Amino acid sequence: MLSSLKTGVQSIWRISSRALQTSSTLQHDSLFVHRDTPEDNSSIPFEFTPENEKRAEALLGMYPEGHKRGAMLPLLDLAQRQHGWLPISAMHKVAEILDLPKMRVYEVATFYTMFIRRPIGKYHIQVCTTTPCWLRGSDDVLNAVKEATGAEVGGNSPCGNFSISEVECLGACVNAPMMQINDDYYEDLTVKDTKEIIQNLKDGKEPQRGPRSGRFAAEPLGGLTSLKEPPPGPGFGLQAALNK
Ligand code: FES
Repeated sequence: MLSSLKTGVQSIWRISSRALQTSSTLQHDSLFVHRDTPEDNSSIPFEFTPENEKRAEALLGMYPEGHKRGAMLPLLDLAQRQHGWLPISAMHKVAEILDLPKMRVYEVATFYTMFIRRPIGKYHIQVCTTTPCWLRGSDDVLNAVKEATGAEVGGNSPCGNFSISEVECLGACVNAPMMQINDDYYEDLTVKDTKEIIQNLKDGKEPQRGPRSGRFAAEPLGGLTSLKEPPPGPGFGLQAALNK
């Protein structure tokens, strides 16, 4: 009895201690809660510039009465583009414009990784490490970015120009691995491409955007595998009786 119990415990131990292959732990860049800092607290005023006020009005005009809160995402984005990142006072401004409790805006601003709630550099590098990108080497890409910039995930480079975030799928899996820098996608990356892109930015040059593999978009690398002939004309495949 005692020996069979011992054998059972040993086999459970063997199963539970089996090495499991896992992806890297996602080190997201920010806390979901706000902590007051000298550069981000509600006593720092935020106002839209006159130009952006007009944009805000145009955005609000796209939503019917009673549904103005639908403009929350574009308004937060507008505030972030104006300021470079999204301080809490900008969230308060958006809440005021939409006549909503501040909490409704916090809920949205803390949910989406597109909203950056800390001061960042000129280049915000977002490396996707979700499964398709991870299988294609996103860990190496992320390490190359860290090495080339001297920044860590969630931090800024010593020069202050680069900030890194590790993010979930950015919707370009067919061109994995990929990263986004500001508004541009860089796809089909190798470590060499990654370092070259960072170096270009350091040198003030514009790196080549999109796929780096020579593909135009997301077509097969070795050429077309389907739709190789001209399409058949109208009436193709119809019964003879219908084809008159
Ligand atoms: S998994 Fe990286 S873009 Fe989709």
